[in-house]
Amino acid sequence: MKKSTSIGILVLAAASLAAGQAGESLDAATVKYPAGYRSWAHVKSMVIQPGHPLYDSFGGMHHIYANPPALEALKSRRPYPDGAVLVFDLLETRAEEEAIMEGPRKLVGVMEKNSKKFAATAGWGFEGFRGDTEERLVTDSGAACFQCHATQKQADYVFCLYRK
Ligand code: HEC
Repeated sequence: MKKSTSIGILVLAAASLAAGQAGESLDAATVKYPAGYRSWAHVKSMVIQPGHPLYDSFGGMHHIYANPPALEALKSRRPYPDGAVLVFDLLETRAEEEAIMEGPRKLVGVMEKNSKKFAATAGWGFEGFRGDTEERLVTDSGAACFQCHATQKQADYVFCLYRK
């Protein structure tokens, strides 16, 4: 009786240890939702229209935001430190008379720098969150995102530039 109880406790302990490790390794490869990014620095905006090569994935109006460490790196054109985060906030467009207006949010694209967590993709974690939700869209650990961003290796995998 006593023996089986202690074996039971051991089994439980081993199970929770395994669960803890699984939780950590999941977290280790996961990009955080960029809470509060609407109050970060706005870097630039762009409208991608039908016919553009990026239209299928990123058609609409996007605004790029940088958190303070990312902004610093962007301005000084230095490599991005761990903790730097860039956001690609993609909205639908709506035509109103002769103006192009913002429509509903399509997705929030994120690049988070953490050289250990995201070593497989040059230190950048890539994620997309659907619309106004925190539902994750990237299913390949960011391989497809990285493949295109790899063309910007000389700028630490970042396309956008900061204007004054
Ligand atoms: C086919 C090429 C391509 C793919 C694939 C791609 N991007 Fe980008 N991405 C770009 C371009 C081009 C820009 C710059 C847009 C601008 O200047 O407004 C950009 C900009 C960004 C930015 C702002 C920082 C920067 O590099 O300028 C983030 C964040 C971002 N993308 C995330 C993602 C995520 C997440 C994925 C995958 C779900 C992804 N991208 C896939 C081409 C791509």
